[in-house]
Amino acid sequence: TDTAVNAVINVDIEGPQINRHVYGHFAEHLGRCIYGGFYVGEDSDIPNEGGIRLDVVEALKALDIPNLRWPGGCFADEYHWRDGIGPKEDRPVMINTHWGGVEENNHFGTHEFMALCELLETEPYISGNVGSGTVQEMSEWVEYLTRDGDSPAVRQRKANGREEPWKVKYFGLGNETWGCGGNMSAEQYALEARRYATYCRDYGDNKLYRIAAGASDFSYGWTETLMKQLSHLGCQRVERPLYQAVSVHYYTVAGTWADKGAATVFTEDEYYTTMAKAARTDELLTGHGNVMDLYDPQKEIGIVLDEWGTWWNVEPGTNPGFLYQQNTMRDALVASVHFDIFHKHADRLVMANIAQTVNVLQAMILTDPDTKALVLTPTYHVFRMNKGHQDAASLRVDTLGETPSREVDGASLETVSISASRKDGRLLVSLSNLDAEAAQDVEIDLRGGAVAEVESLILTAGALQDHNTPQTPETVAPRPHEGVSVSGGKLRVHLPAHSFVTVAGALA
Ligand code: AHR
Repeated sequence: TDTAVNAVINVDIEGPQINRHVYGHFAEHLGRCIYGGFYVGEDSDIPNEGGIRLDVVEALKALDIPNLRWPGGCFADEYHWRDGIGPKEDRPVMINTHWGGVEENNHFGTHEFMALCELLETEPYISGNVGSGTVQEMSEWVEYLTRDGDSPAVRQRKANGREEPWKVKYFGLGNETWGCGGNMSAEQYALEARRYATYCRDYGDNKLYRIAAGASDFSYGWTETLMKQLSHLGCQRVERPLYQAVSVHYYTVAGTWADKGAATVFTEDEYYTTMAKAARTDELLTGHGNVMDLYDPQKEIGIVLDEWGTWWNVEPGTNPGFLYQQNTMRDALVASVHFDIFHKHADRLVMANIAQTVNVLQAMILTDPDTKALVLTPTYHVFRMNKGHQDAASLRVDTLGETPSREVDGASLETVSISASRKDGRLLVSLSNLDAEAAQDVEIDLRGGAVAEVESLILTAGALQDHNTPQTPETVAPRPHEGVSVSGGKLRVHLPAHSFVTVAGALA
């Protein structure tokens, strides 16, 4: 049976701007994300520019992706950038010890990554090596990338074919330094972060936004240590904080780390556990934000959730180190719930990067290793349907009375999730019905403005387990939604079971 939800949106009361970078992406040298995913090499018969796969670029451009984080992940802390510049035949081969122990020929390096960002019209986010690198190495990478004028690093860049410096804003000071990035204590890393940040210079008008490697999940103590270090600088002449943000990583893992469950074979109980884990992102951002408020009530330091998404067991028969997984309607709802939470935390959350864009974990795109086929996942469609929220003003959504919910693993999970924003005189409302079986009807009282006509899209599937393959690429794809009406200042939306709906219209 359908249940009814009543909500109110004051469309004339704008909340904080939703940073477009919460729709950010992450690409690591892991499995087939870079090689075979983004990059096939110039000799491939797959259409490419400088080795970069053009069908992947075209699909991602439709998402307006705001940034791409690279080269890791754990890989970043064993990556030495000088191995990835200059003639390809001279680049040394290394072993990717974290991800399958495979050979890495370094054919995709700094110039290739920056060319990819240019093709995607997206901003680079470079993750530097703290774990096995040096301050000098990181400092010179920044110089190589962004310095104008003359210096040894600049001469080398020019010799490698790039005259002008690139613009690079986002720069990460290591990754998961509590684990694969060096197994450091919080105190130890906080001191390292200060040292590394000092030598990542701003050249000319290129102002870095330095991101300190933050906590895993709910480890608030790590965040507190990083915040304390910022306030204990002991140097009054520092104009900006040494780093502008701290990161956090949170994956939706429904099972245990040893057995995370299959991407496409799961019970209804496992589905609800997944949704409850995804919904904890709200608690996560509230918790880290509360700690940061103690040291930075003005919210000058941002939170960067630079890895998030579902993590399942790898698909049977694939390399366990490659983290290749399918993507179902369940993953789509995990994404849509995350975005509602991101919009709610627009005041502190400056960036979020899904892990990872192609062929790894909760991907947008899956490519077939044996054919040219490319599949857009259900998660891809959520990013596309929601892109109007990028840089929009968040709008608060208040539900009246009881919100439908169910008990999951001893806690309450709300089964209708809604967020809204306005930009350029247009309203965009996103609604997710997490109930596996029951439809829900939502009535939203729009106050302070009106929409006369709306356009609506729906993403749903016969079963939660449905997914797209090269043979059936449109099983889970957006379609026009008829179950929407506006009258008397009320927006009425019918949400079938396990569905994601967007409603957009011009505000009067
Ligand atoms: O995204 C896969 C891995 O997950 C990353 O390399 C690491 O940072 C995290 O543990």
